[in-house]
Amino acid sequence: MNILQINSSAKVTGSESNRLNDKIVAGLVADNAGAVVVVRDLGAQPHPMIDQSALGALFTPADQRTAEQAARVALDDALIAQAQAADVIVIGAPMYNFGISVQLKSWFDAIARANVTFRYTATGPEGLLKNKKVYVTLPRGGIHRNGASDSQVPHLTTFLGFLGLTDVTFVYSEGLGLGPEAVAKAQAQADADIEAALA
Ligand SMILES: Cc1cc2nc3c(=O)[nH]c(=O)nc-3n(C[C@H](O)[C@H](O)[C@H](O)COP(=O)(O)O)c2cc1C
Repeated sequence: MNILQINSSAKVTGSESNRLNDKIVAGLVADNAGAVVVVRDLGAQPHPMIDQSALGALFTPADQRTAEQAARVALDDALIAQAQAADVIVIGAPMYNFGISVQLKSWFDAIARANVTFRYTATGPEGLLKNKKVYVTLPRGGIHRNGASDSQVPHLTTFLGFLGLTDVTFVYSEGLGLGPEAVAKAQAQADADIEAALA
């Protein structure tokens, strides 16, 4: 089993999504002898955001790219290769200002590539990252689950589904800004949800 762990908190230490990701991956490794884990920590090593020069590089045919353009595309290629190789992808998605972190968005922008991870057919779009299990951890300061303020889960479901990633388990850890008791309760619930999801 190839496991890809995507950490996207701005925090390198003390992150709840990183903690939950670690717990999921540890559980998967315990149950799958010989599992190979690749960790991409986008907080410690941010991926560059899309800008004009990145788009210019991507839309220049490979044999016409400058060395600088080729190097920029290679950064995205590496993330795509990791996603393609994974059987399981574990994604941390901390809520920042009601959305995902810029770190995670940059990973999304890197791995969504036409005719590689999705394509358009006569009958509509087709995701090309198939037959993979995805876990997404969702720490929040407040409580948003199933409410109008949770624009993360619809976005994540749409984006991941567009790439063919339709088997997604969400793990919530909510109320982390509501005091120590709420934190303890949220973490205990999230830990129990992970154990149930992996059982
Ligand atoms: C910049 C920033 C923005 C945040 N915005 C929200 C928000 O919109 N809603 C919310 O419930 N919590 C918000 N929080 C709280 C985080 O979701 C919470 O601290 C969570 O634990 C972050 O995940 P992490 O610990 O993996 O970094 C925000 C935190 C930060 C640092």
